[in-house]
Amino acid sequence: MSTTPLLSVRDLTMTFPGRGPRAARVRAVDGVSFDIAPGETLGLVGESGCGKSTTGRMIVRLLEPTSGSVTYDGRDITRLPQRALKPLRRELQMVFQDPHSSLNPRRTVARIISDPLLVHGSSAAEARRRAAELMELVGLIPEHLDRHPHEFSGGQAQRIGIARALATGPRLVVADEPVSALDVSVQAQIVNLMERLQAELGLAYLFVAHDLSVVKRVCDRVAVMYLGRIVEIGPKDRVYGDPAHPYTRALLSAVPLPDPAAERARERIVLAGDPPSPAAPPPGCTFHPRCPKARDVCRKEPPPLRITAAGEAREVACHFPETGPAPGDGARGQDASGGSGRDTP
Ligand SMILES: Nc1ncnc2c1ncn2[C@@H]1O[C@H](COP(=O)(O)OP(=O)(O)OP(=O)(O)O)[C@@H](O)[C@H]1O
Ligand code: SF4
Ligand SMILES: [Mg+2]
Repeated sequence: MSTTPLLSVRDLTMTFPGRGPRAARVRAVDGVSFDIAPGETLGLVGESGCGKSTTGRMIVRLLEPTSGSVTYDGRDITRLPQRALKPLRRELQMVFQDPHSSLNPRRTVARIISDPLLVHGSSAAEARRRAAELMELVGLIPEHLDRHPHEFSGGQAQRIGIARALATGPRLVVADEPVSALDVSVQAQIVNLMERLQAELGLAYLFVAHDLSVVKRVCDRVAVMYLGRIVEIGPKDRVYGDPAHPYTRALLSAVPLPDPAAERARERIVLAGDPPSPAAPPPGCTFHPRCPKARDVCRKEPPPLRITAAGEAREVACHFPETGPAPGDGARGQDASGGSGRDTP
C-alpha cells in the first residue's frame, strides 16, 4: 500500500522471565514486523499462546517491548515515558476479549465510558453528553447510562467496551479477540458494528482472533503467527486463496466449509501435537516438528520472511512454500520449489 502507515512495528520481541526459580525465559514474541495503513484492518491469527495478545499489548504500550520498535503516525513511541504517551492514548485504544471482566463492575456505564474523557480534560457535563452519544453510536439506549455492567448481556457489554475505546476518538483500535467470548449469533452483530464504525470513523484495526472465518470477513490483510513469529502475511485474498505456508494451509483446512459436499471432498491437514513451548523453541524452522513437509534444512536454518515471486504482495517464512488453491478448494497445492514433500529422516 502506498499510503504512509499509521502503525509500523519492527522486529518486536518480548521475553518474559520464566515462572519459578529455574524456569527458562519465555520468548513470547520473536521479531515481529508489520504495517497498518490508516483505515485498514490487519487480522492477526494463530493458535493459543503464539503471542497475539502480547503483540497487541506492546503496541498500545500496556507492555514494554524487550526490543524492536513501534512507530505510530511517523513517531517512534517505543520508549516514550508515560507522560509523553498521554496524548497518544487518545488515538490508540484497545478492546478486550471478555467484556464483563474488562469493565469495572462497581461503576456505572456513564463513568466507564466518560472516564477516558475526564482524564483528557473534558468537563463532567461534556463527558456525560458524549457518553450518551457513544451509547447511541454503538447501538445501546442512552437512558441506560446509569446502569452497571452486570445489567447488560455479553454482546451489550462488548458494545460498552467499544464505546469506551471510541470515547477519545482513536485512529487505531487493537481488538484482542473481541468476539471470542460471545455467542455465535451475537458475534456477527459485534463484527457488523465494528465494520460500520470503521466505515463511519475511518478507524484502523489490529483484529486479533483465532477464528479464521471471522478474520476473513473483517480484514484487508492477515498475518499468521506461530510461536512468536509471523510465518505468513499478505492481502487476505492471497493468504486465504493461495496459502503458501504449511501452517496456514493446516489452519485453513480445519475451517468448516458451508457447502457439505465441499466439506466432504476437502483435504484436511491434521497437525501432530501441540505447539512447542516458547521457552524452548525448536531450532531452524520452529514449525518443523509438526510440519508434514519438513526436510533436513528445516531443522537447521530458520527460514526468513520473504516474498516468493516478483510482484507478490504476500510474504512467507518457509524454505519450501506451496502454491495452488487453498486446501478444501478441491485441488492439491504444488510445491513452489519443485520438491516432492517430506524427506525421510
Ligand atoms: N506475563 C507473562 N509471563 C510469562 N509468560 C507469559 C506472560 N504473558 C504471556 N506469557 C506467555 O507468552 C506466550 C504468548 O502469550 P499470548 O497471551 O501473547 O498468546 P496468545 O496468542 O494471545 O494466546 P491466546 O490465543 O490463548 O490468547 C504464551 O506462552 C504465554 O504463556
Ligand atoms: S521451512 Fe520446512 S519445516 Fe518450516 S514450514 Fe517450511 S517446509 Fe515446513
Ligand atoms: Mg490472547
